[in-house]
Amino acid sequence: MSRLVKRALKLVVWAAAVLTTALVAIDANASGSGNHKRGAPRDESFGRSHLTAWVELGSNGQAIARAITTDLGCPFINVDHARHRMSLRAGPETIPQRPTASNPEDSKPSEFPVTTCEFAIPEGTRVAKVGGEDEEDEGGHDWSWNRRSREQLLPLPKPNPQRIVILGDTGCRLKIGDPWQACSDIEDWPLETIAKTAARFKPDLVLHVGDYHYRENQCPPDIGGCQGSPWGYGWDAWEADLFRPAAKLLAAAPWIMVRGNHEECARAGQGWYRFLDTRPYESERTCNDPANDAIANYNDPYAAPIGNDAQIVVFDSSKVTTSKLLPTDPAFANYQDELHKVADLVAAKPDALSIWTNHHPLLAFSPLTGTTVTGGNPALLSVMYATYGTAYYPPGISLALHGHTHFLEAVNYSTNHPATFVIGNGGDNLSINLPDPFPADAHPDGDFTSAVDVEEIAGTSTFGFVVADRGDGGRWTFRAYTRHGKLLTTCEFVSAKTSCSELGFLH
Ligand SMILES: [Fe+2]
Repeated sequence: MSRLVKRALKLVVWAAAVLTTALVAIDANASGSGNHKRGAPRDESFGRSHLTAWVELGSNGQAIARAITTDLGCPFINVDHARHRMSLRAGPETIPQRPTASNPEDSKPSEFPVTTCEFAIPEGTRVAKVGGEDEEDEGGHDWSWNRRSREQLLPLPKPNPQRIVILGDTGCRLKIGDPWQACSDIEDWPLETIAKTAARFKPDLVLHVGDYHYRENQCPPDIGGCQGSPWGYGWDAWEADLFRPAAKLLAAAPWIMVRGNHEECARAGQGWYRFLDTRPYESERTCNDPANDAIANYNDPYAAPIGNDAQIVVFDSSKVTTSKLLPTDPAFANYQDELHKVADLVAAKPDALSIWTNHHPLLAFSPLTGTTVTGGNPALLSVMYATYGTAYYPPGISLALHGHTHFLEAVNYSTNHPATFVIGNGGDNLSINLPDPFPADAHPDGDFTSAVDVEEIAGTSTFGFVVADRGDGGRWTFRAYTRHGKLLTTCEFVSAKTSCSELGFLH
């Protein structure tokens, strides 16, 4: 190819990029967001491109590099000494307004003026970097218009992770009908503090138990603490709620991402799918078309090994309802099928510690007003009871990790049920505390047969996170910390049982 033809092609690519980016910007302005001038390209798209990159673990522990860029093309990834172009997962688009959890007048189209890219990192990779100066690639394309992004070193999976940081329910609540959270006040919405404190623990892995996005409706004019916050389900709200405040923790280690109810299709499902879901991209799972919600709101479970002797089994309960399911309900069949798949994943590793994680508490408690509590999610428990009786979980699950209730809870059972932690105190408005003393007659399966008996319970409604450290012989130590790193309790775990140094109300 002659130099002249190459230059002409380069000009065409560049012109298309300018035109498309300008159209995206016009689109964004037309629907009322953004404070840049109509028709002008966004500042960050030209002259200073923006790049966010992180690593997630998917099925079988496959490490997946993800990148979000304001450029139209995907960045390069350097994997040890090989250089690859990342694959496109989802390009810039504005998705027409769909039915959401809010009234139509309180919703808007979802604007994604960014490109999401991905790359499966081979096992054993020692160094991986995304971005940096581009050069003419082997295909003869010159991407020099796209060369301004800064190189980012990616955290890679350890073969035998020793330390896991666990957090959940991290976003800033902007929702009509709920108390408005002061997103611009680090004391009121402390995710950035939590992420920085947790990153100082130098985890090998981070587990987020779901609910990343909370900025659903526009901050009213008479509420001071959230003025100017992005809202709705597009990139700007995702960036403000997760990617910017959690940047230090995203850079610290690979993440396992659990899907919360805030990420179901009628809420932030679109961003969940293009940014966080670890499965290959399929248009029917994007949550863009409500006709496909019955597919996109359910995902098969998968397992990520944690070394040779443990695995985390990730279960999607994002769309679960709050009352018992009848066997005739399609959701019943979906969840029962997923439970059977969990059983297969556990049976495939009979000697490993199998840790279950989903967003909604199951064999755990949430506070009600006064001295009463409620048990786990009745919809999922009804399917679990119908499938596995009073064991509830598939055989071989020894530990369960959840979020959804905005506090910390550690429970050990005298019956043969997995020790359970609820770690939903990662930034959103906190729930009230569990009653202290804890009611002696409470069972997390009280809506069923009350077959599950509490031996020990500890909890607090304080912002924070948990650090789990591997010991010998299947032992793990779970330490609960406040957002500033004050230790609340230390819980030793082995063989489906946990015992904490401090019990009851932690303070
Ligand atoms: Fe939740």
